[in-house]
Amino acid sequence: MKERVNFGSKIGAILAAAGSAVGLGNIWRFPYETGNHGGAAFIFIYLICIFLIGLPIMIAEFSIGRHSRANTAGAYKVLAPGTPWKYVGYMGVLAGFLILSFYSVVAGWTLEYTLQALSNGFSGMTQSKEFTLFFASFSSSTFRPILWMFCFLIMTHIIIEMGVKKGIEKSAKIMMPALFLLIVILAVCSLTLPGAGNGLEFLFKPDFSKVTPKVFMGAMGQAFFSLSLGLGCLSTYASYFGKEANLSRTAISVGIIDTFVAIIAGIIIFPAAFSVGISPDAGPSLLFITLPNVFQLAFGDIPLLAYLFSLMFYILLALAAFTSTISMHEVVTAFIHEEWKFSRRKAAWMVTVGCIVLGICSSLSFGPWSDFHLFGLNIFDFLDSLTSKIMLPLGGMLISIFTGWYLDRRIVWNEISNESKLKVPLFKAYIFILKYIAPIAISLIFIKELGIL
Ligand code: PFF
Repeated sequence: MKERVNFGSKIGAILAAAGSAVGLGNIWRFPYETGNHGGAAFIFIYLICIFLIGLPIMIAEFSIGRHSRANTAGAYKVLAPGTPWKYVGYMGVLAGFLILSFYSVVAGWTLEYTLQALSNGFSGMTQSKEFTLFFASFSSSTFRPILWMFCFLIMTHIIIEMGVKKGIEKSAKIMMPALFLLIVILAVCSLTLPGAGNGLEFLFKPDFSKVTPKVFMGAMGQAFFSLSLGLGCLSTYASYFGKEANLSRTAISVGIIDTFVAIIAGIIIFPAAFSVGISPDAGPSLLFITLPNVFQLAFGDIPLLAYLFSLMFYILLALAAFTSTISMHEVVTAFIHEEWKFSRRKAAWMVTVGCIVLGICSSLSFGPWSDFHLFGLNIFDFLDSLTSKIMLPLGGMLISIFTGWYLDRRIVWNEISNESKLKVPLFKAYIFILKYIAPIAISLIFIKELGIL
């Protein structure tokens, strides 16, 4: 088999995978879902989803990638030649491309807001109306959001062109520690605000009465998106893991880092919001309307603090988004490079240009094209729903079925135990989850998301 690059170190591999997982999903959805669905009770359920279903599927993706040492579609051709399993890989590549195109639009917004924060552009604003107006006029305009999306994709492109070791791994080793530092500083600042305790209570007070079966399934969907599962992103990264990497341990580290960042994001957002009496909601409006307002009000007495807090927060968001866009780009680039035999450079350009074109459509769907609908949704929402509600759960389900039922058990064992060098006391439980629990649980999310339940 041809020589293939590897990540240079175990920590580099963990940080790259964690960089993929930690993204906008952690910051705009998790805290809100937690607050509204039973606080600590939701966190408890979310942890069960992560550890019981998310991690086994992540380990399955890791095994598929590392064993085949190929991109996600190529992996199935190596492991199951001549079978239709390769379509699971194709679907993953397509999902990666589609998510990258609309995710980059929002990622681009984080750059605009970083610039606004840097130039102290929010300082004169005092009323929530002003923030709403600013966001509405920015996101619906034609050129500016496209320009930022373009910048974000070009930045992502540059890292991808620099390669797996010098680009992806090195950037993760710099950006992830920076992200941890920022997130801890922001959480400490937020906790010192008067009335911060109410925010913590909202976030953590366990209320099991709010936990319905739907909430359970919501937690699973969130766990899935947040861990970057279902499209072969982590299997592509695992194809660059070394022989000595401990797959279960890497998966546990990624799960812990991802959950830690999501919970700390809640500790930043809720104490600040409650201290100024604003009730936070989910989605883009939380990040781009509510929070800039909250930061101005919360730290209004000390303008320098308001300035620094906003600036650090938007840099944090941009970093989180950046390590995720890099991972999605790599899924598609590796596929085009290895399967269609284009040079890595050309493959990367094809992805970047394609995403810019589709990203322009997504961006325009907030403004001039807002009346254009597919299945009742604008282009951005359509791509979002198609990927996160259909393609990712379906991909995840098929990955667990593939590993649990189809793949030779010796391959699965050798990958997880590094050729019997590691002890794997839970191997039987792992296989049982992949065979039964994960496919059934994911079909439930799927059914719920499609509105059948
Ligand atoms: N996990 C990322 C987030 O939480 O924002 C989103 C994501 C990245 C999903 C990469 C899928 C993926 F392949």
